[in-house]
Amino acid sequence: MPTGHTLAIHTRTQDEEDLPHATKRTMADHLRKYETIFTLTPQRMRMITEAFKEALELGLQKPGQIVPMIPTFVFGWPTGQEKGEYLALDLGGTNLRVCLVSVQGDGKFEIAQSKYRLTEEQKQEDGQKLFDFCAECLKTFIDQNLTESDSPLHLKPGEKLPLGFTFSYPCAQDRIDHGVLIRWTKGFGAPNMEGHDVAEIFRKSLEKYDVPVVLSALINDTTGTLIASHYVNPKTKIAVIFGTGCNAAYMEHVSNIEKIKSLNIDSSTDMAINCEWGAFDSFEHEHLPRTKYDITVDEDSNKPKEQAFEKLISGRYLGEILRLVLCELIDEAVLFLGQNTYKIEVPYAFDTAFLSLMESDPTDELLMIIGIFSHFFALETTLAERQFFRALAKLIGRRAARLSACGIAAIVDKMGYLETEEPCLVGADGSLYNKYPGFADRIHEGLVDIFGEKGRRIVTHHAEDGSGVGSAIIAAMTKARRDAGLYPDL
Ligand code: GLC
Repeated sequence: MPTGHTLAIHTRTQDEEDLPHATKRTMADHLRKYETIFTLTPQRMRMITEAFKEALELGLQKPGQIVPMIPTFVFGWPTGQEKGEYLALDLGGTNLRVCLVSVQGDGKFEIAQSKYRLTEEQKQEDGQKLFDFCAECLKTFIDQNLTESDSPLHLKPGEKLPLGFTFSYPCAQDRIDHGVLIRWTKGFGAPNMEGHDVAEIFRKSLEKYDVPVVLSALINDTTGTLIASHYVNPKTKIAVIFGTGCNAAYMEHVSNIEKIKSLNIDSSTDMAINCEWGAFDSFEHEHLPRTKYDITVDEDSNKPKEQAFEKLISGRYLGEILRLVLCELIDEAVLFLGQNTYKIEVPYAFDTAFLSLMESDPTDELLMIIGIFSHFFALETTLAERQFFRALAKLIGRRAARLSACGIAAIVDKMGYLETEEPCLVGADGSLYNKYPGFADRIHEGLVDIFGEKGRRIVTHHAEDGSGVGSAIIAAMTKARRDAGLYPDL
């Protein structure tokens, strides 16, 4: 053609044999190459775990380290007898949720909630506007659920409900109802918020919309997950989230948190730590095996060099990593010859959910994969190509799970959780953990690769809703602590 473009004369009704597809052999050769770069040996995993452990320790010693290890001012485990009605607001990576949680003691609770999806604009625009939207949603929820005289919990005029705000981003806290946003993660933008106290900004929004609540705790989703999981199962020691972002929290001895020594908190006390481990190996890139696709993801992200660990693992990026491999094979004229590939060439066009779907396709013909490629990208595929795509998804998904195992192993090793015969339960949540087929099994396999047989004592399980229930329990714990006069200013 005069423009230099190839004319795609094939239609989708034509037999796939008509298209100049790559042979089975070529696809197998390519797969071998990707296997080499995406596979993590047990030895490499042990090295990563060691380096990870050092980064966690450093984060506890001094402020401003790569892995920030944020003290949360959640003092110790819940008793399981916490009670009361609390509102919880959950601002995550994809949705906004408003919950009314009734904490009933004995590991029981009830929850009513409304969910709102955030638009891309809301994620990039002015931060105050985003918080105004949160306040408005909260106000609507209260008006609809709590002001009618026949509602189960009737709010009297002038009465205010305690609110736990789950804000799933790194915030430096020097008390529980305050937090300075260190940086946005998970593709959020709103630059005017970084370095500011988000609790303060949110209080302004609450005032503006006259919302009858008192912001009593600002928490991270992992901290909420830790507390909610322990409330239901007291054997829980660690919480992890594998969703749009990835992170972990655990309970630390205050005596080990060197950087808060000046607060003179009784050294026999425990405090939950929000690790913000997604930042591991940021800037220096010394320990994690990054492929050229990972480097492109990083450089084209809105925070280059940051969240190095998260970029290899979390749901925000896995689809993009796979898409970049496909684009390379398109450029090398291996895939989709004679077809129009513009749809798949759009950054972030390949959702991580497609990897889950491809891996779980139960048909011999891989019909699900046919559907994804034809429906979303107007591309025809052969069986050999589809088998390759599925194998590639598996490599990327498996690498993510094995790296996750390294993070868990670092905490387990640091805390000596395998030194007793007790199982070490890990409460896990997030779309990858909950929906990606085999993700949990691959983490468990990875833990055995790192620790040998005793690694089997570390068991992940689907956690309770940390951002809702956990946030409410933490609000209850905080109230009880302050009422008892225990560090009332923290
Ligand atoms: C990102 C955030 C972190 C959050 C995690 C999971 O890593 O920085 O705060 O816990 O995503 O949502």
